[in-house]
Amino acid sequence: MPNLNSKILVLANWKVNLSLAETLALVKKLLTGVAKLKGNFELGLCPTFPALPGVAKLLQKKKVLLGAQNVFWKPNGPYTGEISPSVLRELGVKYVIVGHSERRQYLKETDIMIRQKIAATLAEGLTPVLCVGETFAERQAGQKDIVVARQISAALTGITLSPGHELVIAYEPVWVIGSGRAVAPEEAFYIARVIRQSLIDIFSTRMVDSQIKIIYGGSVNTSNIASFVGRGKLGGVLVGGASLEAKSFLALLKQL
Ligand code: PGA
Repeated sequence: MPNLNSKILVLANWKVNLSLAETLALVKKLLTGVAKLKGNFELGLCPTFPALPGVAKLLQKKKVLLGAQNVFWKPNGPYTGEISPSVLRELGVKYVIVGHSERRQYLKETDIMIRQKIAATLAEGLTPVLCVGETFAERQAGQKDIVVARQISAALTGITLSPGHELVIAYEPVWVIGSGRAVAPEEAFYIARVIRQSLIDIFSTRMVDSQIKIIYGGSVNTSNIASFVGRGKLGGVLVGGASLEAKSFLALLKQL
C-alpha cells in the first residue's frame, strides 16, 4: 500500500453509551495511557455528538483523532435536526462513520442516503468510514458476499476519490456486533478480498491500494485483536463495547 498511512487504524465507536461526563473522563484516561504506548496505530474516538466540542478540546495537540458517528449530506439549509459535514470539519473531526448497521436498521438509512453522505463527507475533506455487512438471515441464505458487494457498489459507484481523499471500509457482520463473539479472522480476510474486488470494479487498483483502508468491526476485544490486524491482515478495527472502559481498551491498544 504505497501512500496510505500504514498505521493500524483503531476507531472507538461509543454509540449512545456514555454521559458527557463519562465521555470526557474516558478520553482523559485514554490520553494518559496512550502517551505511554509505542505501537504502530492511529486511534480515532467517535463520541456522542454533544461531546464532540469537549473531546476536540482534550485532543488538541494530541495524536488521537476525532470521529463522528453520523453526518447529513447537505452542508446547510432547512434540515431540522441534522448535522452538517462542514460543522464536523470546523470541530476538527477527521473520521465519519457512515451507514452503520444500527442506522440502517433503526433509522432506515438507505443506500441512496449513504451514498450522498459519503459524497458530502469527502467534499469536506473528511474521511468516511463506510460500514457494510450481512445480517444473520442473509448469511444463512448464503448471500454474504453478494450483500457486501452490493452495499459497496450502491454506496460508491459514481463517487470521485480525488488525490488526498481517504476512505475506510469497515466490514461489520451485523449479527456479531455487540454479541461478544467475532467472526473467525479468516472469514473477515475473505470478505476483505470481496470488498477489495468490488472497489477495484469502481476505482483504479492504484487508488484502492493508496487511498482506501479495509478494517473489521464486530465484537473486537483484547483477546482477538491480534488475530485481525498486523502484517498481511486487515488495516484496522472498529471497536464498540471493548472501547468503553479505559483499562481494557488500553490493554487492547498495547498489543499493536
Ligand atoms: P462491538 O460494536 O465492538 O460492540 O461489536 C462494533 C460496532 O458496532 O461498530
